[in-house]
Amino acid sequence: AEEHIPVICIDGPTASGKGTLAAVVAQKLGYHFLDSGSLYRITGLAATRAQIPLDVANEQAIADLLQSLPIHFEGSHIWLGPEDVSELIRTEEAGMNASRVSAFPMVRAALIDLQRRFRALPGLVADGRDMGTVIFPVAPLKVYLTASAACRAERRYKQLISKGISATLPSLRADLEARDARDANRSVAPLRPAQDAKLLDNSELSVDQSVEIVLNWWQSKQLYT
Ligand code: DC
Repeated sequence: AEEHIPVICIDGPTASGKGTLAAVVAQKLGYHFLDSGSLYRITGLAATRAQIPLDVANEQAIADLLQSLPIHFEGSHIWLGPEDVSELIRTEEAGMNASRVSAFPMVRAALIDLQRRFRALPGLVADGRDMGTVIFPVAPLKVYLTASAACRAERRYKQLISKGISATLPSLRADLEARDARDANRSVAPLRPAQDAKLLDNSELSVDQSVEIVLNWWQSKQLYT
């Protein structure tokens, strides 16, 4: 049944370009798309609004709150009840809060089934940190996308500046390195490549080039397996 629905996992550190790559690959293949980070971002947002400190002592309360959230995906937009939170959850602060709540085992457990329900015909491209290691362990193609920290900070910097948000390179780089360290060092589902992941460093690649590499991998999987 479900095991036959293809899944392409794209995992990797903060600002490696996973989101863009995954969305384009999904669009080219006509597949569904799961931005798993958005679920942790919404959880952080909702907990903050409910004035629950993002502390492991509150993991049960945060997991309970999460279970009650009316989250809806519509194209590239994410709704929390009647509110479009797509922009709100993309800030640096929302990313850091997402990283905090994502270290709580109860929060991760509460999101497992929800994420697996995205697997639907004709296929799914899933973007995150543990797509290949935990959520879809038997996915036929797992990509671990990286780029140098300097490169990732630079891309994030340009993104923010183009939106009129002020930022400095050194502080962005420090923030993303702190977030990666937290994501990689937590006890549950830490950021790391799956054993069978293909590594892709896109420091020197355009989006189109990365897309082409992943589509080629996908095509050869289908020819030879
Ligand atoms: O991909 P992102 O920047 O939107 O993710 C935000 C945070 O959520 C990230 O720092 C760690 C957490 N996360 C996770 O733990 N597991 C995932 N599959 C996706 C995100």
